[in-house]
Amino acid sequence: MDKFEKGFLVGAATAAHQVEGNNIHSDYWAQEQLPHTSFTESSGIACDHYHRYEEDIRLLADAGLNAYRFSVEWARIEPREGRFEPAEIEHYRRVIACCKAHGVEPVVTLHHFTSPKWLIAKGGWEAEATVDSFARYAGYVARKLGGELNYICTINEANMGLQLAAIAKRFQLMAQQAAQVAGAGKSAEGSVQVGMNFQKMMENMQFAAAENAGVFGDPQPKVFVSERTPAGDLLVLRAHAAARQAVKAACPHVKVGLTLSLHDLQPQPGGEAFAAAAWEEEFTHYLPYIQGDDFLGVQNYTRTLYGPEGQMPAPQGAELTQMDYEFYPQALEHVLRRVAEDFHGDLIVTENGIATADDTRRVAFIGQALAGVRRCIADGLPVKGYFHWSLLDNFEWQKGYAMNFGLVTVDRKTMARTPKPSLAVLGGYAGA
Ligand code: BGC
Repeated sequence: MDKFEKGFLVGAATAAHQVEGNNIHSDYWAQEQLPHTSFTESSGIACDHYHRYEEDIRLLADAGLNAYRFSVEWARIEPREGRFEPAEIEHYRRVIACCKAHGVEPVVTLHHFTSPKWLIAKGGWEAEATVDSFARYAGYVARKLGGELNYICTINEANMGLQLAAIAKRFQLMAQQAAQVAGAGKSAEGSVQVGMNFQKMMENMQFAAAENAGVFGDPQPKVFVSERTPAGDLLVLRAHAAARQAVKAACPHVKVGLTLSLHDLQPQPGGEAFAAAAWEEEFTHYLPYIQGDDFLGVQNYTRTLYGPEGQMPAPQGAELTQMDYEFYPQALEHVLRRVAEDFHGDLIVTENGIATADDTRRVAFIGQALAGVRRCIADGLPVKGYFHWSLLDNFEWQKGYAMNFGLVTVDRKTMARTPKPSLAVLGGYAGA
């Protein structure tokens, strides 16, 4: 197997809420506990990574990986507005130190979907004050931990809210057209990147609205992963820019960027205009706000086909992952090439992966995806790293623990970790 050059980051990624456990001050935790929640199950103890991070980082390093992307949890660091918890900073300082002790480059994300409950009660990701709140939190983390870091991602998948708005619109249309066609919700779920239970959300809507109003003072709380207005989309970008400035003020040496969920949008005859409009919404309109960033985090899982009627289902007979989207590792190379046409900073693949119980398919996926990355580098594209999603089988948001994205299995009863063969396969690509 051909190794990447020394210095190329070969890593795995996680997000705090999906692995740490007991993230009790967050909006997600609150939503998981609602009587009419759309979550299949609560995150609970997750993978207990908060206490077992040493073992997890050791497994990653022993398999040869040289980088770890994880998120620090805003709801732990600032559980009440303006009240920062130094003990939580010390926790993350130990996580970073553990990475370094194992020769692993830590890449830290400041916001990966979850927010403190108080932020959402104040209007969340549609409220003007969130820009300053996020920048203040980012500056605090940078002052405390930035000296030990080289990379910070401000916001994970800044474009997720717009993607959800588009999907929700399509889903409503489908539901109207098909009136009571069973399964309309399920097929919409297959077209969203992140684990969502649209069908359940629809069935519960009426009750959930009252319950959300009780908790957040808003029947439709503006959590990060919810339908975003164009003004909210702009607000996310301004929050990113303000956070970048706060990080740079504290630590000019840290490389800062955000991450985007990017599909390989493939028009079939007649679908060109749909595909072009989707790329504009998913990527191009963000350019003015990110062009000054040090890097862009590229997150890709599959392709999307467009025909004369708009988005199309996966081709007949295509292999689908547990998430119901197509197994299509070639998508990563296509997306990297497309992004590089317009974005001029470094590119880091901050997520790419597959939900499957069959690890041989993950091994195949990694091989094909990385072959594409290698071709991009050979053609001079500034791709600086590849992070596989995910290090551990973890909490896939509304879908709970049913999805197997991990390079490592976690026994839900004992929390015992068992590396899958794919972990060592990925580690084998890291240059010495
Ligand atoms: C998110 C992850 C999620 C993964 C798989 C990405 O959209 O950043 O948190 O688990 O996709 O669905």
